[in-house]
Amino acid sequence: MKTLILSIAIGTIFFVACEKKVEAVVQQSLYEQIANAAKYSFYKNDSSVLPSAPQSAHNAFFRVRFNSIAAAALTDAGKLPVNGSFPEGSIIVKDLYNQQNGNIVLYSVLKKESGNANSNGGWLWAEYDTSGKEIYAIGSKGDGCVNCHSVNSRDKVRLFDLF
Ligand code: HEC
Repeated sequence: MKTLILSIAIGTIFFVACEKKVEAVVQQSLYEQIANAAKYSFYKNDSSVLPSAPQSAHNAFFRVRFNSIAAAALTDAGKLPVNGSFPEGSIIVKDLYNQQNGNIVLYSVLKKESGNANSNGGWLWAEYDTSGKEIYAIGSKGDGCVNCHSVNSRDKVRLFDLF
């Protein structure tokens, strides 16, 4: 009996440790997927850095880019059509700048992966600093992001109705 309890305990510890590891690998590989901006296209093909909307929690200046899977869904004059949705594998990156002519200080990231246990509203939610260090973990499942991103959004994406 003791051995059984012990093995269950050890098994659980391994399982939890393994889950954490898998999560860390997903987090790191997502950073690698966003780091190369050359593989992305900018919203309305415009890489200008703009002030974030007053409705936004993001500081302070930004530009948004889409991977090719996400970009393919932008069929309404560069926007996702109302009631449209992004395909699986879509990645959207918000480059956040400290000043309009300044430096990138943060990447806010959405990846469409509805089958992933960490997804919320179909998306993985993450933030990284420029060295790839996680600032907002995928494992937080969009807590603190999704509520605001559900207001006036198209498939949880906010900029279409603001810019
Ligand atoms: C209080 C509201 C609010 C919260 C909280 C918020 N966002 Fe946003 N987010 C916005 C708005 C508004 C925009 C549109 C651009 C802008 O003005 O900043 C935006 C833009 C984005 C974009 C570019 C795509 C889009 O939706 O336009 C990403 C990626 C993003 N947010 C990720 C996140 C993540 C990750 C979190 C949580 C860590 C988060 N956001 C929390 C309001 C919010």
